[in-house]
Amino acid sequence: MLTLIRDADIASARLKASKYMFRITALFSSLLGITAPLVLSLIYAENIEAISPPPKLTAEQSTVAASNYQRYCALCHGEDREGHTNDHAPSLRSKSLMESGIAHQVLRPMQYGRKDTAMGGYLDEIGGPMTLDETWNLTYWLFEQAGYDRLKFSTNPVKGDIVRGESVYREHCTACHGVNGEGVSAPALYNQSALAHNTDEFIRHAIRNGRQDTPMKAYQDILSPTDIDSITAFLRSKADATQEQKTVLRKLPTPDHYIVNPDGEDPNFNLQDDLYVSSKDLNDALNSKRRMVLLDTRVTSVWQNAHIEGSIPFPYYADLDETVAGIPKDVQIIAYCSCPRAAADYTINKLRRKGYTRTAVLWEGIFGWMHLGYPVTRGDIAGVSD
Ligand code: HEC
Ligand code: HEC
Repeated sequence: MLTLIRDADIASARLKASKYMFRITALFSSLLGITAPLVLSLIYAENIEAISPPPKLTAEQSTVAASNYQRYCALCHGEDREGHTNDHAPSLRSKSLMESGIAHQVLRPMQYGRKDTAMGGYLDEIGGPMTLDETWNLTYWLFEQAGYDRLKFSTNPVKGDIVRGESVYREHCTACHGVNGEGVSAPALYNQSALAHNTDEFIRHAIRNGRQDTPMKAYQDILSPTDIDSITAFLRSKADATQEQKTVLRKLPTPDHYIVNPDGEDPNFNLQDDLYVSSKDLNDALNSKRRMVLLDTRVTSVWQNAHIEGSIPFPYYADLDETVAGIPKDVQIIAYCSCPRAAADYTINKLRRKGYTRTAVLWEGIFGWMHLGYPVTRGDIAGVSD
């Protein structure tokens, strides 16, 4: 209905907004009974009309979604969706995300994850713990909890000067997002999964408006509209056209395969702070065939993509009484994750409370391990044979 300010140049949008405001407010509040604040918020939401909210959850769906959130997401995104509890997991309640990202920009990372980041996929189809309905309902639940209007975004490309965009990116964005868009204290902006899921308008909306209550500022106060378009076009140019690869699901290991090198000697690790083992020590112990149990504490779908050989999927949200059965108490257990330690620390603390004292956490996490050049076993890709 209201597409007042197309092609929004922010400065002129604001000027226009003040001109239109009176007329429109008068018109709408008399004709339709819509109040001024609503019209105002529609006008300032540059370019964009509101669309109807998604279907409302039933009380039961809402309860399940809330508990799924606590079980699967709170570890990194925070108990109250505030973000930045572990790693640099973004806020899942900022206005600019919740008004622009429902459903797909929130749903897709939840279902399929962001490759090579701590964000794994939670959909059962790729080896995660949630059903399709549960992922949709959790998306709607996040929207309801945040309590903002949903805006309609165009899927058209944002046009801009890529060369200019790169230089503005280098000046303003690398401190947090990294020289190669890899994410330092903020999301990885050249990430192929993110670029596959996020439309240009979604990206531009984030740059213009920032993410409320996070270090991400509203760059419409700092940069010109043309520069913001140029950075958006520059980020888009980082997407390669290759299809997302689909991993063939492996069978999960059975208890008789839990122990790596069952006949080997104990690794006798020297643990730092009585908890941490270095990648080098772990790699040496594996090479000299020591007896250990390796727990991959990430969401199981990422174990499917790549894991340290011999590790068993033992996600941080697992029911310990079920998963721990079959693991003897005398064997050295090492847990790892990608965040780089949060999920593994959490799991090992639970195990220690259950009397598993011969436990340790891989200090560098699996990404650190890989960066140091140590090997991982990768999943088979659909349609590719060797
Ligand atoms: C182990 C830590 C961890 C857990 C657990 C986790 N996430 Fe994330 N999540 C991240 C990180 C880190 C990112 C940012 C990755 C990047 O792009 O660099 C992220 C990104 C996201 C995004 C994209 C947000 C945006 O601003 O674009 C969504 C949506 C999301 N996570 C939802 C979830 C949900 C829902 C759950 C629970 C089912 C969950 N995450 C569990 C770490 C985690
Ligand atoms: C001071 C650190 C910092 C700087 C500088 C910064 N950002 Fe961010 N940015 C963040 C953080 C942190 C987030 C995640 C916020 C959240 O949702 O919790 C973010 C989120 C984003 C997102 C949303 C990503 C998504 O998947 O939802 C985009 C796009 C983005 N930034 C682009 C930029 C651009 C372009 C610049 C430079 C003009 C920039 N940022 C500068 C810290 C920063």
